[in-house]
Amino acid sequence: MSNQEKLLTMTGISKSFGKAVKALDNVQFELNAGEIHALLGENGAGKSTLIKVLTGVEERDKGEITLDGKTIHPRSTDEAQKVGISTVYQEVNLCPNLSVAENIYIGRAPKTKFGGMDWKKMNADASKLLSGFGLNLNVQANLDNYSVAIQQMIAIARASDIKAKVLILDEPTSSLSQAEVNKLFEVMKKLKAEGMGIIFVTHFLDQVYEVTDRITVLRNGAYVGTYNTSDLPRMELVSKMIGKDYAALNKSVLDSKAEKKGSDKGEPFVKLDNVSHQGTINNIDMDIHKGEVLGLSGLLGSGRSETARVIFGLDSVSEGELKIKGEKVNFKHPIDAIRKDIAFCPEDRKTDGIIGDLSIRDNIVLALQTKKGLFKKISKKEAQILADKYIEQLEIKTPNADQLIKNLSGGNQQKVILARWLATNPELLMLDEPTRGIDVGTKAEIQKIVIDLASEGMAVLFISSELDEEIRCCQKIIVLRDMQQAGEVSDEEISQSAVMEIMAGGDNA
Ligand SMILES: Nc1ncnc2c1ncn2[C@@H]1O[C@H](COP(=O)(O)OP(=O)(O)OP(=O)(O)O)[C@@H](O)[C@H]1O
Ligand SMILES: [Mg+2]
Repeated sequence: MSNQEKLLTMTGISKSFGKAVKALDNVQFELNAGEIHALLGENGAGKSTLIKVLTGVEERDKGEITLDGKTIHPRSTDEAQKVGISTVYQEVNLCPNLSVAENIYIGRAPKTKFGGMDWKKMNADASKLLSGFGLNLNVQANLDNYSVAIQQMIAIARASDIKAKVLILDEPTSSLSQAEVNKLFEVMKKLKAEGMGIIFVTHFLDQVYEVTDRITVLRNGAYVGTYNTSDLPRMELVSKMIGKDYAALNKSVLDSKAEKKGSDKGEPFVKLDNVSHQGTINNIDMDIHKGEVLGLSGLLGSGRSETARVIFGLDSVSEGELKIKGEKVNFKHPIDAIRKDIAFCPEDRKTDGIIGDLSIRDNIVLALQTKKGLFKKISKKEAQILADKYIEQLEIKTPNADQLIKNLSGGNQQKVILARWLATNPELLMLDEPTRGIDVGTKAEIQKIVIDLASEGMAVLFISSELDEEIRCCQKIIVLRDMQQAGEVSDEEISQSAVMEIMAGGDNA
């Protein structure tokens, strides 16, 4: 149910960073009460900047914002919250070392008649509020005892409790399991029914079609249009986002796969012989050949990243044997693996990846410099050539390679990390969720790059939660379940249902 009352309007919004970056150029956006509205566009299109302008994190250069017909001009997230606009970022903006209840009532805790904090009431109210969202938590426990998914849900419950009119979710689902996403959607629908207006930023188009009423598309900082979700076919949506024909791009990925040369059938580049790491993976047996894209599939926590960590020397081999080109190895540190031409692009760019205060160029050459050793300094000129190459190839949106990486949009930061590992020119490239947070167009480009690299002889280990992506790229998929190997499919046997059947465990689970 959606009443058509106009809640929020943004008109003529412009925002530049320095002379070179026009992040928003005369953008408009409108949100109704009781509506879920998707804000979509490529990496760097300006989505997060629009949200930041709306919530007072960035000062706009021009433009007008009205809420309930009144002009507003919040200068901070606190001010935005006071007028009724709440934001839940992917990196949840709550206090990890306060209790769940304190987080919900921060700044507005109930008082006893003597003026002290009424802990009892606060905890009871928090429990009651959360159980309304189907969450039965220990509200006195520290927030950081709970997963990101739960923390997001707590932030949303708080927004609902302070009677926010507008709730903003900027890529909230990128690290959630399917069950957690379903739960979040239930909550969003409940709030929508209560009349809240929700802005939902995501790169998962399935989710857009599942849960949103309308879509606004931005491209290159400009407004493209607003559409009813049910009237906009998917291909058309994607073409509006990328400004070119998606069907052709998509076909080029499939052609690459079809043309791909077979893999080397001789000795594998990596061989895992019954490998375990105490506390994580158990008895993994697998080979990766040069020229092959091997997929690792499985639910969150099934041991995919943990397997890559052992191959990369982040975790030790506690049982079994790891062989590189037939030679038994026991890496003590990733540098040992890097020197054997192994690269690992990790899934969490925030903790394992970007160095915010370094330029794009310095971030890109980091792994290569480590590989060469600090005495063989990469010259500025070499670094510039590499950086320019990857900025072009991966379409990293930036005026130049001097830009600090922290100023890039989320998806573009992800591309820089990928470039860092491609630059080491590895024989084995391990990619853990390489397209998370990456827009559909670039996603297809990256898939094509991976297939082409394998075709030229690289061995690739490809970990992705998006099954269709694994199916498109891989010759063989090994499925993990509960930290063990559950089965594998290859070539013609590869299909969504075949992989899911193994994931779920069938009747022998
Ligand atoms: N503080 C800043 N300094 C310089 N440039 C910036 C700054 N913040 C954002 N930009 C630039 O503004 C543009 C829009 O970025 P924004 O983060 O809004 O993109 P986005 O649509 O959210 O992308 P993504 O899907 O990757 O998250 C990008 O080119 C980005 O590099
Ligand atoms: Mg963003």
